[in-house]
Amino acid sequence: MTKKITFLGIETSCDETAASVIRENDKGTADILSNIVSSQISEHKKFGGVVPELAARAHLENIDYIIKAALNESKVSLKEIDGIAATAGPGLIVCLTVGLNIGKSIAAFLNKPFVAVNHLEGHALSPGLENYIKFPYLLLLISGGHSQFLIVKDVNQYEQLGTTIDDALGEAFDKTAKMLDLGYPGGPSVEKASKMGDKNFFKLPEPIINKAGCNLSFAGLKTAVLRESKKINGNEKLKFSLAASFQNTINKILYKKTKIAIEMFKKKINTSNVNLVVAGGVAANISIRDNLKKLSKEIGFTTIYPNLEFCGDNAAMIAWAGIQRFKKNLLNKIDVEAKSRWPLDENAPYMKGPGLKL
Ligand code: KG4
Ligand code: ZN
Repeated sequence: MTKKITFLGIETSCDETAASVIRENDKGTADILSNIVSSQISEHKKFGGVVPELAARAHLENIDYIIKAALNESKVSLKEIDGIAATAGPGLIVCLTVGLNIGKSIAAFLNKPFVAVNHLEGHALSPGLENYIKFPYLLLLISGGHSQFLIVKDVNQYEQLGTTIDDALGEAFDKTAKMLDLGYPGGPSVEKASKMGDKNFFKLPEPIINKAGCNLSFAGLKTAVLRESKKINGNEKLKFSLAASFQNTINKILYKKTKIAIEMFKKKINTSNVNLVVAGGVAANISIRDNLKKLSKEIGFTTIYPNLEFCGDNAAMIAWAGIQRFKKNLLNKIDVEAKSRWPLDENAPYMKGPGLKL
């Protein structure tokens, strides 16, 4: 029997301080030996969003304890670990450096391999923790900072098919929650409020729905929510209906754009068999999951969602990406630095800012 690789993963790119120990298993997936996530919700709640300096300080305060807890729970000693993976970008540099520096220090001290992980690759490969999925697959990555359709050809090989030209989807959820005073974190509170509203009450715009391939845009929708929110004068029922109408509009946009992305994937890969992985924090939204499941039945493809605990930021997905890169000998030196911007497909056109032609 070959030795199964065990990795320690560390994640501090935004507002979750996380550490995890995982081990490969015979099924080609992972045994999660520990997965500790300390959310900073209470720290950022009063500001309605993440405050970088506060987040970095909270990471610094918590990281030692979180790593220790992950090791204790896993019952694996540092000596038995085959390598360390830490998120190196994209994200807030002040936050990233906390986890990255401690990861590098542990690796240097123990003389173990080190992998600097792209947070987006962590999300992209996250369903592999529980399900063996063959490459290539189509990925819809929807998080607080990114919204993209990508072909995942292999570890470290990505082709972007479409991206948001303005706000990320998670950001649109967070801003909607703020405008409607639904509380932080925004995504789950909009989802909850939507259940109490009429999703067809407000007619909201679906930006670039009939153009620009599977690129996405949410800024116009956000502005429309702001406009309508000013008219509802604290009426709870209307507030819930506005949240529900926003979520329903998102679902209509994702339905149409995913259909386009599926066709693009089929053409590029020359296949009729499509696995669609939906990952990132927003993939926890049940109405979005159901909506894309409905589409999958209609046009015939398979949807794969990570378990809810692996949708939001976590270190198990970072350890998993670390193991995959380690197996391909994609290791990093100890002088690797944090990057605020780090696209998965370095050749993809930059889709933001003035002068953009769609
Ligand atoms: O992947 P993630 O945890 O962090 C980033 O990499 O950005 O994603 C966080 C985003 C936030 O914008 C949050 O509001 C959103 O995911 N989110 C949701 C839900 N749960 C988290 N959005 C919609 N519905 C949810 N249930
Ligand atoms: Zn994330």
